[in-house]
Amino acid sequence: MARTPGFGVDIGGSGIKGATVDLSSGVLADRRVRVPTPQPATPEAVAELVAVITSEFAWHDPMGVTLPSVLKRGIARTAAHLDPSWKGLAANELFSEYCRVPVTVLNDADAAGLAEMRFGAGRNQDGVVVLLTFGTGIGSALFVDGELVPNTELGHLPLDGADAEIRAAAAARDHEALSWADWAARVSRYLQVLEDLIWPDLIIAGGGISRKADKWLPLLECRTPVVAAGLRNDAGIVGAAAAAARQRGR
Ligand code: BGC
Repeated sequence: MARTPGFGVDIGGSGIKGATVDLSSGVLADRRVRVPTPQPATPEAVAELVAVITSEFAWHDPMGVTLPSVLKRGIARTAAHLDPSWKGLAANELFSEYCRVPVTVLNDADAAGLAEMRFGAGRNQDGVVVLLTFGTGIGSALFVDGELVPNTELGHLPLDGADAEIRAAAAARDHEALSWADWAARVSRYLQVLEDLIWPDLIIAGGGISRKADKWLPLLECRTPVVAAGLRNDAGIVGAAAAAARQRGR
């Protein structure tokens, strides 16, 4: 099949990663560039690094960028793990100005979900599918018969008196030095709350910790089938590139 190039950048609390993507297969076409997220992660500092990464690949076409934020028509409405000055900012305009190409901006978990539904564990899955990314926080992407319901923010459901991501993100396992069994028990509790509210047909577990899925997926207790994400940590980049291509009608 002919290669269809796209370009995506995934912005997280600790790193900014960019790569060209073959959109016919969902595979990174070349190397991946990663730079640490600047601290403080102000819009200008982040946009400058995204422009540097983009110029390293000599990319001059429309591209996609993810943020750990709710995005409504390109405007960031929240800013988890980033500087609060993102809130209310037209992120799509900012990146387009710095990178000098049209930029589609979307939530990081929504991007990962788009990639998984097209190329990974969610292929050909209809019904209600939820992708969850376990990392610094918990991101969510909800699909109904393959269509994304954007900005679901299910990582912020209340769980035993706290925000779910504080109790059950991968970061909680590190901070509290939890065993796999103890952390899996927390994730199970979270999944049980979630499945009682939205009754998914499939849950896809993503984020960096999905690389170690064999250590914790078999320990989960919930009624919904849970599978590991197929694209692992590249899903955000692939989904960003795919979203931009979709916007330009390819
Ligand atoms: C944010 C989400 C984001 C997730 C993963 C959460 O704290 O509210 O927007 O998708 O972290 O980065």
